Amino acid sequence: MSEDSRISRYDWMEAELSERESRALYREMKNLERPPKAGELGSAGKWLYKGGKRLYNLSSNNYLGLSGDPRIAQAASRAQEQWGAGATASRLVCGNHGCYRELEEDLAAWKGREAALVFANGYMANLGVISALMRRGDAVFSDRLNHASIVDGIILSRADHFRYRHNDLEHLEFLLKKHDSPAQRKLIVTDAVFSMDGDAAPLHQLVELRNRYGALLMVDEAHSGGIRGPHGEGLCHEYGLHEQVDVIMGTFSKAFGVYGAYVCADRVLIEYLVNASRPLIYSTGLPPMVVAAAHEALRIVRSERERREKLRELSAWFRQQMHAWGLPSIPGESPIIPWLIGDNARALQTSSMLAERGISAVAIRPPTVPDGEARIRFSLMATHTRAELARALESIRAVAGEVQEVGR
Ligand SMILES: Cc1ncc(COP(=O)(O)O)c(C=O)c1O
Repeated sequence: MSEDSRISRYDWMEAELSERESRALYREMKNLERPPKAGELGSAGKWLYKGGKRLYNLSSNNYLGLSGDPRIAQAASRAQEQWGAGATASRLVCGNHGCYRELEEDLAAWKGREAALVFANGYMANLGVISALMRRGDAVFSDRLNHASIVDGIILSRADHFRYRHNDLEHLEFLLKKHDSPAQRKLIVTDAVFSMDGDAAPLHQLVELRNRYGALLMVDEAHSGGIRGPHGEGLCHEYGLHEQVDVIMGTFSKAFGVYGAYVCADRVLIEYLVNASRPLIYSTGLPPMVVAAAHEALRIVRSERERREKLRELSAWFRQQMHAWGLPSIPGESPIIPWLIGDNARALQTSSMLAERGISAVAIRPPTVPDGEARIRFSLMATHTRAELARALESIRAVAGEVQEVGR
């Protein structure tokens, strides 16, 4: 391709990238390096290696520390020997290996629901469920801070999209009343624990509104599955509401430390998804080894309660320390603990200053969070220790002092 035609075709991309850079919104992937010692975990552990430095990992979603668990790796390896590397086709063609059924049966039993369905990942599950259940002319009521995959699912469905203010039940009810046509299917959808704020949705009241307005209710347990509930079932279970939520969705990519996602619901809804959910129908199934790894992670999540307890205790303590030092955050009980900064450039600078002190904690900027709400998102793991976190907090405190000086 000649240089001239390249410029004319791609110059808008360059302009857009420069514009993003000028607003401190440019994104780039940082390469993670192999740990120097054989046998040491890379980002699956508490440390990661980046730019020649070892960093204490306060940025992953590996909340229970399961990603490096040898039992999960062994389960994957056994499945690979039995079924090969790939699923070879969509599940409806010849990709539905026995390990899917075994996992789905256990998922449904764990969640106390009639049936479960495994999806490729959480993004696809949200896309696949919402676009199958809703059509043009239907109405979806979605929390303003819901994950991007929910927003994209609604766009794909072509339904009318009503965003209610974050956790604002009055606003939601106002919208439900205003758009209460019997001809429309209605769906209320929310994250159980919000991915960037770490706070929880008012599920009791959402169930009440679901009942009052004849809507379906869908709850995304991406950041509460494995962590909340007596056996890690999630927030719906912890609140005893799991039978009144029409669709409970969750992922294996966070607390489970693996990959993939699931939906638990009544059998008819699952049967409907198998017939109507395009991301499920028109895409190759997850590799059997990933399904087996997720299954082993589920077994560990259900039985090792102490991981949840430790995570809860560390998270409460970390929040308390931040509060005591006057670092602005958002109240909650989850291991997602934001440090609110505001300005994009300053959030980036804070993240680099933390890295200089040996801490990996990423800056989260718009559009992932609303304009003016850039932040550092700390996320804790059950394998962290209080002593390590106390040292990290000392560094965070020192950086907080320096950032204020620079920002003045
Ligand atoms: C609330 C929520 N839902 C869905 C997803 C997507 O899940 P996955 O990473 O498995 O695609 C995420 C991922 O960050 C999330 O935070």
